Amino acid sequence: MSYQDPVESEISTLTSFVLEKGEKDKSTGEISQLLICLCTAVKGISYTLRKAGMIPLYHPISEGTREIKELDVYSNNLIINTLKSSFATCVLVSDENRHAIIIEPEKRGKYVVCFDPLDGAANIHCLAPIGSIFGIYRRTSTGEPSQDDALQPGRNAVVAGYALYGSATMMVVAMDCGVNCFLLDSDIGEFILVHKNVQIRNRGNIYSINEGYTRDFEPAVLEYLQEKKCPQDNTAPYNARYIGSMVADVHRTLVYGGIFLYPANEMCPQGKLRLLYECNPLAFIIERAGGLATTGKESVLDIVPTEIHQKIPLILGSPEDVKEFLKIYKKYEKPVCQKCSFLKELPDDQRSHYME
Ligand code: AHM
Repeated sequence: MSYQDPVESEISTLTSFVLEKGEKDKSTGEISQLLICLCTAVKGISYTLRKAGMIPLYHPISEGTREIKELDVYSNNLIINTLKSSFATCVLVSDENRHAIIIEPEKRGKYVVCFDPLDGAANIHCLAPIGSIFGIYRRTSTGEPSQDDALQPGRNAVVAGYALYGSATMMVVAMDCGVNCFLLDSDIGEFILVHKNVQIRNRGNIYSINEGYTRDFEPAVLEYLQEKKCPQDNTAPYNARYIGSMVADVHRTLVYGGIFLYPANEMCPQGKLRLLYECNPLAFIIERAGGLATTGKESVLDIVPTEIHQKIPLILGSPEDVKEFLKIYKKYEKPVCQKCSFLKELPDDQRSHYME
């Protein structure tokens, strides 16, 4: 067996990557501290998930009406504690906490972090991949930090990323310099840079959606799906893939191309996915990689949030696939009255009286 000379080989870890970037940007180092602490939490979650089969962490506990798993609570607490100890944050928004967490004054820094500590937790029991998602923003207000500091459009993110706990643990991190993937080498406890500046394919051949909601989908979604299954131009149909764990479904979309959809349906008029800590970070990553992310009506990253647990419909992926979806979606859009947008809800014959 031969060994690579560590002096000659170019091994970059997530830690060295963020330190080098901080040096180039002449930054204060706060964001590096934050990311390094977040990595520690991800390593802890990854380790615990791998052990979870052997220790009794699988038993659901109940919190009010909502059933949550112990691993959710563990991951949430671990991320909150490591972020606090980074001295780089002031406001944290978590999927698991009803209200934003305001960091105590002596531990405060300038960043706001929105995160989902363990997304897709319904998959824990069957050992399917799950993930942690995060978006990091600079605080823009002055004075006492508050929940409102987190209500920023996704486009303002300084860093967004996710950790995928699959057959291996990977962190995907998007910054102004692009999207980079780091694989956890558990022997040395470091995330190693394995894919630099990832770009999504222009078009893929996979669509990913929970088709169990077909009865309640909008006609535009139904037409799009029909087109993917039975293309009118006689091209090959798309493959269907849906894990039901967003990080895994979006990671596959990033790597292989194609489209991921969690649109609105009659039962969930705003969809299911949360803007701040699910949709925005993933939309930011996909757009940095050259893809698109939309609600059908607007770009995800342009939405100004009004509440921290807001839900939106989400369609993201390869640019040509998302554009094709949008073309069909626009066909079904009801015209909006120039004067009063609420008139769009009126039936066609009545609405025409009010149109200019
Ligand atoms: P969770 O917040 O309960 O973990 O739900 C989020 C997950 C996403 O990871 C996934 O895309 C979606 O829920 C799947 O939902 P559905 O089962 O309705 O298809």
